[in-house]
Amino acid sequence: MGNSSYRIPGPCLTILLTLVCTGTARAKVPALIVFGDSTVDTGNNNFRPTLLKSNFPPYGRDFEGGRATGRFCNGRLPPDFVSESFGLKPTVPAYLDPAYNITDFATGVTFASAGSGYDNATAMASNVIPLWKEVEMYKDYQGKLRAHFGEEKAKEIISNSLYMLSLGTNDFMLNFYVFPYRRTQFTVKQYEVFIIAAAEKFIRQLYSLGARKLSVSALPPMGCLPFERFLNINGRHDCVTLYNKVAMEFNVKMHNLMVKLNKKLTGIKILESSIYDVLYQMITKPSSFGFEVVDRACCATGTFEVSYLCNPYSPLTCSDASKFVFWDSFHPTEKTNKIMSDHIIPQLKSRFA
Ligand SMILES: *[C@@H]1O[C@H](CO)[C@@H](O)[C@H](O)[C@H]1NC(C)=O
Ligand SMILES: *[C@@H]1O[C@H](CO)[C@@H](O)[C@H](O)[C@H]1NC(C)=O
Repeated sequence: MGNSSYRIPGPCLTILLTLVCTGTARAKVPALIVFGDSTVDTGNNNFRPTLLKSNFPPYGRDFEGGRATGRFCNGRLPPDFVSESFGLKPTVPAYLDPAYNITDFATGVTFASAGSGYDNATAMASNVIPLWKEVEMYKDYQGKLRAHFGEEKAKEIISNSLYMLSLGTNDFMLNFYVFPYRRTQFTVKQYEVFIIAAAEKFIRQLYSLGARKLSVSALPPMGCLPFERFLNINGRHDCVTLYNKVAMEFNVKMHNLMVKLNKKLTGIKILESSIYDVLYQMITKPSSFGFEVVDRACCATGTFEVSYLCNPYSPLTCSDASKFVFWDSFHPTEKTNKIMSDHIIPQLKSRFA
């Protein structure tokens, strides 16, 4: 057989290589559209009358320009890393931020609000944006897309974008285990079922609004948040086993829901972005990731401070956040966010890019 039979004409090869190598990610995922809590809120709470804020130093001290943006972190959050990996903006703007307009939001936007959850009562406790309101904001966004880009382009953005959902921890850690309201109605297992039902309703609503590509996060090992360890006096400030067990139980239920919805909703593709294991590894084997401190956070004493209690006046705030898994008593450092993102990005890209 002659070599010539294997020849691929030049232009064809070029097209082939363009498709294979540079990836069609840009065309395939025009925007990252985000819903959830502080893990993915890049500044919406700045514009809310709530105590859950982080738009002051030392928050953002390792962000571009050392700016406090309203991210509960010293730097960037997972949606920022995910957006960048899809060839989109390196930072995802908050929908309520007047510095941005629909042109910016057309390639990425977050409706998330720190403190929010699947349960309306969770957002109510901190006067933050409840999930149903995040959906209302998303509907408003769709209207602006149509008005600015026309029906066809708007539809293309809506159906091809990647929807990132990250919430649930606050339902348990800032609602169920803190306030008696839900505990008088539900056992924790019943509450898990209640939250799963709310998650199903929410995902079905996004689907009916046109969303097709979804990344849904499961719960982290929430018993290992520095704040929970701080309160675990009887357990020598170890991780709270019960809360980790609840997270794992919940994640199994969430997995079953995703399997069901992937079957039932025609054309939907949901990827579970599970970060439980990778975060648990960072917490139990910190040195293999280059971390030195896991049981307390960088900011202030690192035990209970979050939001206004994590402020520029504490002399105890660490100088190098990259040695810490946690930035404040509830939230990971940028380095932890990067490691978790690097864990989920290849799965997202192989599924959606
Ligand atoms: C959005 O803002 C940019 C400048 O930041 C401007 O060029 C553009 O026209 C604005 N778009 C709309 C729809 O207002
Ligand atoms: C939250 O409140 C909205 C608006 O009142 C309601 O439509 C929705 O069913 C509620 N969701 C849950 C989970 O209670």
